[in-house]
Amino acid sequence: AGTLGAAAAQSGRYFGTAIAANRLGDSTYTTIAGREFNMVTAENEMKPEATQPNRGQFTFSAGDQIYNWATQRGMKVRGHTLAWHAQQPGWMQSLGGSSLRQAMIDHINGVMAHYKGKLAAWDVVNEAFNEDGSRRQSNLQSTGNDWIEVAFRTARNADPSTKLCYNDYNIENWSYGKTQGVYNMIRDFKSRGVPIDCVGLQTHFTGGSSLPGNFQTTLSSFAALGVDVALTEVDVTNSSTSQYAGLTQACLNVARCIGITVWGVRDSDSWRAGESPLLFDNGGNKKAAYTSVLNAL
Ligand code: XIL
Repeated sequence: AGTLGAAAAQSGRYFGTAIAANRLGDSTYTTIAGREFNMVTAENEMKPEATQPNRGQFTFSAGDQIYNWATQRGMKVRGHTLAWHAQQPGWMQSLGGSSLRQAMIDHINGVMAHYKGKLAAWDVVNEAFNEDGSRRQSNLQSTGNDWIEVAFRTARNADPSTKLCYNDYNIENWSYGKTQGVYNMIRDFKSRGVPIDCVGLQTHFTGGSSLPGNFQTTLSSFAALGVDVALTEVDVTNSSTSQYAGLTQACLNVARCIGITVWGVRDSDSWRAGESPLLFDNGGNKKAAYTSVLNAL
């Protein structure tokens, strides 16, 4: 197959990208994105600060712009993200305790109602763990240790048709505290019937040529708990071809690894633009890493 999306589809997987609404007027960008990918994540437009800037006032115009652009081209959309310590609107940042608990529930219900039946998956909770595997101390954590399962139960009720994911970074190395912390939470959720369908590994790789230790073991270990896994925000320092090929191969080797999303189109579109971490250069040309991914798919 001649595109990332078509090549991934040969094994029943998708290949996605993050899309920014403010770049949809750039025809080089939209030409590449529309040609290569078959899954889209809104880079910022479905986050809490974007969707509920004032309490009780929801705005979906930018998120809908991305949703419409993608679905008009036959692409699917992942929702990102509902409960996160970062990119909260100002009014939410200053809340805690029971009022924040209620605000989180209201936010999940409000946003999921708008997209009900439309999205392939939602990153319900993002980045809730510290590097050592303990819970990140955030205003959400201050509402009680059960806030994550409350978020997932709320989400399941709000839209039973979409897959519910936990998403995080630095959970790729199996021998790492944070990976084990997230793994233990997923195992606990599955044993107690807390609704969860998938784990997103952001896969922001920094440096080196080899993958984080036992990356494929991490994917297969999560999958063995009964959840799908996906690589949700891939970018790699200097686009190491061996890391790009390796992460692609690891996903293909795990039946429940359902797809790969890179976190932007061209290097110049990346939040890590200085590290040239993506598959297309600033001019929109395919990089060597593009070929290494395509050949691995
Ligand atoms: C980043 C976006 O790419 C930036 O444009 C924004 O300024 C900050 O957020 N983990 C996530 C993503 O889950 O939402 C983040 O996206 C990158 C790290």
